[in-house]
Amino acid sequence: MTYGPANPLVVFTPSGKRGRFPVGTPVLQAARELGVDLDSVCGGRGICSRCQITPSYGEFSKHGVVAEEGALSEWNSVEQRYKDKRGLKEGRRLGCQAKIEGNIVIDVPAESQVHKQVVRKDADDRVIELDPATQLFYVEVREPDMHDPSSDLERLKEALKEQWELDDLIADLRIMQGLQRALRDGKWCVTCAVHFGRRRQRGRIVSVWPGFYEGTIYGAAFDIGSTTVACHLSDLRTGKTVASAGLMNPQIRFGEDLMSRVSYSMMNPEGAAQMTTAVREAINVLLGQVAAQGLIDIEDILECTFVGNPVMHHLLLGIDPVELGGAPFALAAGEGMVFWASELDITNANPDARVYTLPCIAGHVGADAAAVVLAEEPYKSEEIVLIVDVGTNAEIVLGNKDKLLACSSPTGPAFEGAQISCGQRAAPGAIERIRIDPDTKEARFKVIGCDLWSDDPGFEAATASTGVTGIAGSGIIEAIAEMRLADVIDIDGVVRGNLCEKTNRVFSEGRTFSYLIHEGAQRIMVTQNDVRAIQLAKAALYAGCQLLMDEMGIEQVDRVTLAGAFGAHISPMHAMVLGMIPDCTVENVRSAGNAAGTGARIALLNAAKRSEIEQIVTQIEKVETAIAPKFQDHFIEAMAIPHKTAPYPRLRKIARIPDTAPSPPPGTGEGGRRRRRTRA
Ligand code: FES
Repeated sequence: MTYGPANPLVVFTPSGKRGRFPVGTPVLQAARELGVDLDSVCGGRGICSRCQITPSYGEFSKHGVVAEEGALSEWNSVEQRYKDKRGLKEGRRLGCQAKIEGNIVIDVPAESQVHKQVVRKDADDRVIELDPATQLFYVEVREPDMHDPSSDLERLKEALKEQWELDDLIADLRIMQGLQRALRDGKWCVTCAVHFGRRRQRGRIVSVWPGFYEGTIYGAAFDIGSTTVACHLSDLRTGKTVASAGLMNPQIRFGEDLMSRVSYSMMNPEGAAQMTTAVREAINVLLGQVAAQGLIDIEDILECTFVGNPVMHHLLLGIDPVELGGAPFALAAGEGMVFWASELDITNANPDARVYTLPCIAGHVGADAAAVVLAEEPYKSEEIVLIVDVGTNAEIVLGNKDKLLACSSPTGPAFEGAQISCGQRAAPGAIERIRIDPDTKEARFKVIGCDLWSDDPGFEAATASTGVTGIAGSGIIEAIAEMRLADVIDIDGVVRGNLCEKTNRVFSEGRTFSYLIHEGAQRIMVTQNDVRAIQLAKAALYAGCQLLMDEMGIEQVDRVTLAGAFGAHISPMHAMVLGMIPDCTVENVRSAGNAAGTGARIALLNAAKRSEIEQIVTQIEKVETAIAPKFQDHFIEAMAIPHKTAPYPRLRKIARIPDTAPSPPPGTGEGGRRRRRTRA
């Protein structure tokens, strides 16, 4: 018996797509015809439950449809069987089973959408549309027939074409080797994982399971930094991150920073291979860890994406990075590339997993910078955005939707606490915040792991287990910026020795002076050499930014984004007082957290984004700091704190930077100057 009008009106929410369909049309079919995003792995056979929908009946709906009771066919035995076996939420129906019989509004819940919006925790209101490169398809394959000879693979492809409109698929030897067993074990029904090429041109069958594959498939996004390697495991069906893990990059034993690793490769015939082995081992360890954490089988990891600077990128791929050590910094290969996991010795994943490496921007601006660009999308911005990924080698991108420029700048490891007398990595007990009273020159601070300031009651008890052990990278930036604001150091970064008479916080160490932050089990101070190391690093960073601004023909930027794990903890105001970044309205300076890792995750969850970043990278203009004549001039001017000539008007509205005269050179003073004049 039919019910309602001959061609009832169906409205899908949240898309709002609507159309009229003959009575008896399955909801899944109607959704497909309208291009509504309703998932299905089993092709409407009532096995996968991906097609769940929520019909709404009753009153005149706001969508202009009188949704009628009984506008869907009755609950059927397939739905009942599914509900008994796996459970189905109250009010839900299977879209492939429920047929349209009257006007109706049908809601497609988020978990039933193929292109779900995955909310990014690291950036408010930003979402990643789920559209992974590897997807699952269930098919029923024709049995072999003496009278119509064809191979199992031919009939599998035929089924994928007929049932899913997947044409022109390819399969590799390993698939063929396992196909006979899978088809017969599954009684001629199999689930295929198909990996689509970067531009969705030609799909490749990468895995076949007998029958309907009940499980889910996973992908791992890697950010290979020179210091740490981080991995996030995501469910490719829901986009959720199910586990994360990180390790120190074991290549550190071959050299602390990038150049020392390139040198190691130059000096040792097996050097590059050793470093490749080390990083690949770390990748396998991390895959093992995230699989254990997420309680999943490593066989279910079918995708990996990788980002890293050019040296890390080459070493991952087993390419000697020696050419990246000097001009013209030629990459062996820098485009986005796809490999078998086994080609990179990745053993803790499905042997048929596919690996995607994001493109490098240039020989000195890597896939990590491309990933930051993908995460931050400056190419969609009207405003001019400056993105700074602070690390041992800062990668800088400047521009907007009309033009993007990129460079890298050799900041060295000072920002990460290396070369700093009391520097340490960010860990409980490390100072991360500091304030200095401009009048008394007294310091108070906060350490990681404790919310109290050092002058709050209870601070000592709260930090008894960790102690106060050193200064983290963000802490050293604040310390030196605060020293400048309190006039403990002058514009040239010289610790004012004459303060010795007023405060015992400033004390002499040979010919220079230091500032004492904390006296305890460990003496925590900032020495003149520490200030110098930070000045060199920040001057290199600023000079890189300035070079890009020159190239762009602008004198100020609208926004600054600090990327990198370290960038997440930097106080924007202090970064400007120090002169790390150009002047900007402080509210427009934000931290993007680990944007490179986010970019790797975006590329993992959305195949179209791979094409997008590959295209954008070709449009980014590369600026070479090493050969730019103005870099040195900018560098020298940027040694001053905040800067020799840049006026920083927007910063000066919120911070009072002392303009007292620079300190006299050490060992001089009035007498010293007189002596010099006498000699002259
Ligand atoms: Fe698989 Fe409906 S499409 S259960």
